[in-house]
Amino acid sequence: MNKCRHLAIIMDGNGRWAKAQGKPRTAGHLAGADNVRTIAIAADQAGVEYLTMYAFSTENWKRAADEVNYIMKLPAVFFKKYMQEFIDRGFRMWIIGELDALPAATRDVLMDAMEKSKTNTGLNLIICMNYGSQREILLAAKAYAKDVLEGKADLDITEEQFEDYLMTKGFPPVDLLIRTSGELRISNYLLWQIAYAELEFVPEAWPEFTPEVLNRCLEEYQNRDRRFGGVKNV
Ligand code: IPE
Ligand code: IPE
Ligand code: MG
Repeated sequence: MNKCRHLAIIMDGNGRWAKAQGKPRTAGHLAGADNVRTIAIAADQAGVEYLTMYAFSTENWKRAADEVNYIMKLPAVFFKKYMQEFIDRGFRMWIIGELDALPAATRDVLMDAMEKSKTNTGLNLIICMNYGSQREILLAAKAYAKDVLEGKADLDITEEQFEDYLMTKGFPPVDLLIRTSGELRISNYLLWQIAYAELEFVPEAWPEFTPEVLNRCLEEYQNRDRRFGGVKNV
């Protein structure tokens, strides 16, 4: 039976979910944020150690200003509601992405969540904000090249050593990637980290992705035959 140490989720379908109920897209984002708490608790209970959530991509700036502004205000609402509970549950918060480009108030709230939970040793809850994986790999390559030029790194490094330049430094590889809302694509998410992940695409929109659906996904994952390029053991 496979253990899922690292679960990554592309939380998609908030807008369509809201529209289907005659609500504005922003209502979907609010329900989606609340569901991050529900699913983090369920994932923790299922034994997941790292939960990486795609909240806002480098491409999402293309959306209407009202929608982007609303999403940028959500971290403050979310952590005001749930930060104390996360601390009590021992969750450690991580935020990855290019935080410099975020509004200062949003960045402050995110940095504060990381700071307040940095001694926690429970579930690592990683929120990707202004994250794009190609950009992440490019920035890693640039930082590595600089280290080589300055004599701080060898030209010959391993994949493991290169991982120290990624935003996910220190996290294990993704075991399972789930995308909600039926879209069958990766959308610039964790391209390096999912090299050998198992993939699951579910029809439910993110706000309707329940702990039951999560547990079903984990059960399916547990029964997958992960060969990593080897030959099945019989
Ligand atoms: C995911 O839901 C949340 C973000 C990408 C910020 P969407 O907002 O993409 O919802 P759909 O895909 O348009 O329904
Ligand atoms: C991916 O969803 C990004 C997040 C969930 C934050 P999108 O809705 O932005 O992706 P596309 O546009 O369908 O590829
Ligand atoms: Mg979408």
